[in-house]
Amino acid sequence: MVATKKYSIIDTETGALDRRIFVDEAIYREELEKIFGRAWQMIGHVSLVPNRNDFFHTYMGEDPVILTRDNNGQLHAFLNMCRHRGNRIVRADEGNSKNFMCTYHGWTFSNDGRLEHVPGVSEAYYDALAMDELSLIEAKVDTYAGIVFATWDHEAPSLEAYLGDARWYLDVSFNRRDGGTIAYGPQKWLEPCNWKTPVDNCSDNYHVPVTHLSSMLAKNKLIGTPRTTQQEMATSIDRRHLFVNGHSLTFAEVDEKTPRAGHGMTAANRHLFEAYQLDTLPEVERRLGSKRARGMQLNNHSLFPNGVLGFRLALPRGPLMTEFWHFAIVDKDAPEDIQGYLRWGLGGNNGVAGLFEQDDIDNWRQVSLSATSPLARKYSQWLSMGRGHTTDNHPEYVGHVSERYISESNQRNFYTRWEEFMNADSWADISIEPIAADYQGSATLNS
Ligand code: FES
Ligand SMILES: [Fe+2]
Repeated sequence: MVATKKYSIIDTETGALDRRIFVDEAIYREELEKIFGRAWQMIGHVSLVPNRNDFFHTYMGEDPVILTRDNNGQLHAFLNMCRHRGNRIVRADEGNSKNFMCTYHGWTFSNDGRLEHVPGVSEAYYDALAMDELSLIEAKVDTYAGIVFATWDHEAPSLEAYLGDARWYLDVSFNRRDGGTIAYGPQKWLEPCNWKTPVDNCSDNYHVPVTHLSSMLAKNKLIGTPRTTQQEMATSIDRRHLFVNGHSLTFAEVDEKTPRAGHGMTAANRHLFEAYQLDTLPEVERRLGSKRARGMQLNNHSLFPNGVLGFRLALPRGPLMTEFWHFAIVDKDAPEDIQGYLRWGLGGNNGVAGLFEQDDIDNWRQVSLSATSPLARKYSQWLSMGRGHTTDNHPEYVGHVSERYISESNQRNFYTRWEEFMNADSWADISIEPIAADYQGSATLNS
């Protein structure tokens, strides 16, 4: 058990949140260890390393990571650090190589992590170097629907347990087809905000009709659909906002004809999206069962700690800087034109030049920066919306389900989860909710 509770930053009764967590350098340094040193994080996608000996350079928090597929086809994630003096052994974003030679003194590691060659091992080291103890530092790796996750903590629960019943909802978007998905990207850019603000914003449906008014008007014009007002959003009964096992999710109940992935859809190409939805419905129903295949569409969501809207990353780069990585994930077997529209639409919404991204960023920057003022820090963020209006026993949906689509329940839970990680001495102090959803269909974690 945790002896003393170091952090108490959210009052779940009032929703008051301590702003120091967005700017304090010492808290940030501790986050890198207690959250990014422990949690499962998205680091890549199998389609980025499709062949033996492929590698892709990525990050876990601030730690540089080499994702490799070794000569036997096995995936690995290594800290990009030579075990001699600490030089980075990979300087490229991606490539294909059986070995990585450090360019300082020439130590050479195989792509399964072993230290294979040391110049002068006899002459200079007198054969006294324990090479088998100097492999690359390796993370634990697993995949969900082609997305590669890793954790530095070998005591962490399985990825399946970590995702928990968030997977029941995520499957609706990411686990639809037998052929899996493909990741395009990443676009990378810096946003001057704390990494937690964009993650919390992923299920802030409250801001959408205000922040994104002009973008929504443009988008509705393109698709030929009416705009959803804030009142409609707040009172709709077919949209859900829920938190499960650390992850924030929102989804809509839709009819079976509604295209599930609608980014890039316009009035002119809508028929192609509708045809794709209906053509693939039998396969999706076989994989996910009828409820999830016929009646649900995943909306905004985040995965704890820093997964933002699907396979997009909010990588911490100091308390007031976040490096965004944007990938477009699409069904691998989708027709080429659908893939093209989706890539265009996903980028147009939330890529580096995305309309919605640009709407959001100024809010995020100001929200983070407000905590730099000693006066402003005395006043909490106020996350009180929808208190007392969630249930843990929804008849159809697992998780902590809000009555309304617009709520701050997920934000309160996200900062409570943050507190739990930051107060824990090890994974033994971190809770995992049991898997309880009814997983109909043949889809599994890995296929
Ligand atoms: S630092 Fe890599 S070989 Fe010396
Ligand atoms: Fe937004």
